[in-house]
Amino acid sequence: MRLPQHLAIIMDGNGRWAEQRKLPRIAGHRQGVATVQAIVKECRQLGIGYLTLYAFSSENWRRPGDEVNALMELLGIYLINELPTLVEENIRLKVIGEISRMPPQVQRTLTDTIDSTAQNDGMVLTLALSYGARDEMLRCVQRLAGDVQAGSLSPSDIDEAHIDQFLDTHDLPDPDLLIRTSGEMRISNFLLWQLAYAELYFCETLWPDFDNEELHRALKEFGRRQRRFGLTGAQVSGSGLADEEEHH
Ligand code: FPP
Repeated sequence: MRLPQHLAIIMDGNGRWAEQRKLPRIAGHRQGVATVQAIVKECRQLGIGYLTLYAFSSENWRRPGDEVNALMELLGIYLINELPTLVEENIRLKVIGEISRMPPQVQRTLTDTIDSTAQNDGMVLTLALSYGARDEMLRCVQRLAGDVQAGSLSPSDIDEAHIDQFLDTHDLPDPDLLIRTSGEMRISNFLLWQLAYAELYFCETLWPDFDNEELHRALKEFGRRQRRFGLTGAQVSGSGLADEEEHH
């Protein structure tokens, strides 16, 4: 089966999972962490090279303080608990987003985990934390403008590679597949530049209920789709038998 080299996931529905059970929202996030652990392991087993998880958006700071604090605490605990697994499974941790906004203790744990796994090359696990794609693009534009002002870059020389290089994802390939759970069909300010040609997959399952079977369903669907990058089906397959019209 053809697998995505880079799988990105918007993990949505923790709150609803908890509300359905008359539990506090944080119980949903806690269960969501268990799903993260299982899915990270499964992606590694499958041989997916890059897994990127949208764990906390730049907009999530506006949630009630209690929920934000609990999420930060969960994240710190997750990182500490997960380190032995990351090492054992040869997984390298990375982060994207405005990490300087994270609580100092979480930043320290992140740095430690990133350093301790820097030599691992089995899979790259990227956590998007305090991440917003518009914010990321804005920071990229500021850096490009700085280079132009400094005289080291001419506006007419700016190309896509320059933009790639100044995004937080500069060392990651673009995602091939985006999964969003819980029935919402939005991108929600996630990897807007990088998802240009990604296949999008939406499922109704709430993130705490997402499991290996659901993951395999998404991967199977990805395997069935033909990615054309703006070419015709015939061009891509080389068969001369296009079964669909050209699209963009
Ligand atoms: C969306 O559910 C989920 C989040 C905002 C946070 C995702 C966080 C985790 C899965 C746990 C921490 C992450 C890691 C990597 C350890 P929601 O609260 O928006 O759900 P709702 O839409 O049903 O309210």
